[in-house]
Amino acid sequence: MPGDRDADSIAAVRDLLLRSDYSTSGIARLGIDLGMGARTRDVPVLLRALEPVEPLASLIRLFVLGQVVDGSAHEKTIGRAGSAALRRAGLTQVAGGAVAPNVRLTPWRGFVFAHDPDPDDDLWPQHVSGPTPAADTLIRLVSANGGDAVDIGTGCGLFAILLAAAQSSIVATDLNPSALRLARLNSHLNEVTVEVREGSFFEPVRDRAFDLVVSNPPFVISPETELLFRHSAFGRDEVSRDMVRSAATHLREGGFGYLLVNWIQPPDRPWIDVLASWLEETGCDAVGLLHGVEDPLAYSARWTAREQQLRPERHGHTLDRWLAHFRQERIEAIGSGAVVLRRRTGRNWSHGLELSGDPASEAGPHVQAIFAGRDVLARIEERGAGRDADLLRSAFRMREPHRLTQSLVARDGEYTADPATLAVVTGLALPLEVPNELVPVLLRLDGSQSGEDVAREVAAETGGDLDLLSTRIAGFLRELLQRGLLEPAPGPTRGPAFR
Ligand SMILES: C[S@@+](CC[C@H](N)C(=O)[O-])C[C@H]1O[C@@H](n2cnc3c(N)ncnc32)[C@H](O)[C@@H]1O
Repeated sequence: MPGDRDADSIAAVRDLLLRSDYSTSGIARLGIDLGMGARTRDVPVLLRALEPVEPLASLIRLFVLGQVVDGSAHEKTIGRAGSAALRRAGLTQVAGGAVAPNVRLTPWRGFVFAHDPDPDDDLWPQHVSGPTPAADTLIRLVSANGGDAVDIGTGCGLFAILLAAAQSSIVATDLNPSALRLARLNSHLNEVTVEVREGSFFEPVRDRAFDLVVSNPPFVISPETELLFRHSAFGRDEVSRDMVRSAATHLREGGFGYLLVNWIQPPDRPWIDVLASWLEETGCDAVGLLHGVEDPLAYSARWTAREQQLRPERHGHTLDRWLAHFRQERIEAIGSGAVVLRRRTGRNWSHGLELSGDPASEAGPHVQAIFAGRDVLARIEERGAGRDADLLRSAFRMREPHRLTQSLVARDGEYTADPATLAVVTGLALPLEVPNELVPVLLRLDGSQSGEDVAREVAAETGGDLDLLSTRIAGFLRELLQRGLLEPAPGPTRGPAFR
């Protein structure tokens, strides 16, 4: 495991990786689709797919495929200086004429991360993972905002390193010393400045305030406590609750927090109420993004899938232990998702949205648009009476790019239009079904006229009842604003302007 290494060796390793095009696209060019790294069981196939373009192929054999290689062949392809730099930086070790990798090196989002291998065996308590789908989901939500930032439970430093250049400062905390050694190494390898601090969650930064908080904490609810990156010593959903509340209290006015969370979902209670109850009296607005609510069996099966593959003979016993734990704790369902917080003085709101999948693209601007849309509604609601009228007096335009999809279905010799579906092209998976009668409304939301004018025009065109249509349009505008699909028209509008 590498520790704080001589800066020259790390700089030489960086140079070697850059010269060799050790990047997602460079590796793909040699026949390997990296995804989130390589699993041991895929190695025989990948080794045979690898094109022998050196020195990149040698680096891939070591740091993607985890192979032990012959020392002299290694020196020939990588060069004596490169080979020595890898060893001195702690990335390889040499024994009996063979070179073995100490870490995996995974390029991700334009950076490279040293981390522990993903073995085809049990993980160890202080295992430090590389980029994962969960990390990818969280980072896609984040908008860098230039201020002071903190990454709690940083692991090998993923978020801290990705965000460092865009923030004026960034602290990374973790309880796992192995994680922090890797986070330090990775910050040097990527030439970014990260202040790395050991300690439990916010404890190392307890007196500080931030403009940006990110955290993918060990949120899994289970009877286990062994794996530091997945299980916390906290019971039930305490770790998620505590992290959300702590993030809220460490945010400066206008600052944003982004966290992945799991929570105990009581029957008959809206899921967003659970998250909103965590935020009471914290001075933060929140957008909750629901990935799903699972029963204990589905949840247990998902989080024990590794054991199901590795030790199927033990899996039934493990599932029974998890299910007994959930019964004993009277947990009937578990929610999974993300929470985005913003500290704001005033009457705070919490709003929940159900995702239909992970964001396929960067969703930071979409998340910001949801906050902006919810703010518009909050200002109207604060004004009290005549809320629909207020909304309709304003001009809005649809955010672009968005996609409106509609199918024609043939029945009894005639085509009829299915309801249309509206979704952003870049952002969160939040498709909205648009009833056919509101499609003409949608097509007019270009910021050139108020909702009232749109209602009058469409009522005249379709012969519909103006009052009824106006009420529906107000509801539709509200829905669009809450989903970050609509924005106030720029410049002067008729009626009260939003300030
Ligand atoms: C799910 S991993 C996330 C790692 C990385 N940020 C990512 O998103 O891939 C959770 C991290 O929290 C760390 N952790 C666990 N308990 C902690 C605690 N009490 N205080 C600080 N970090 C903790 C683990 O060591 C691990 O690095």
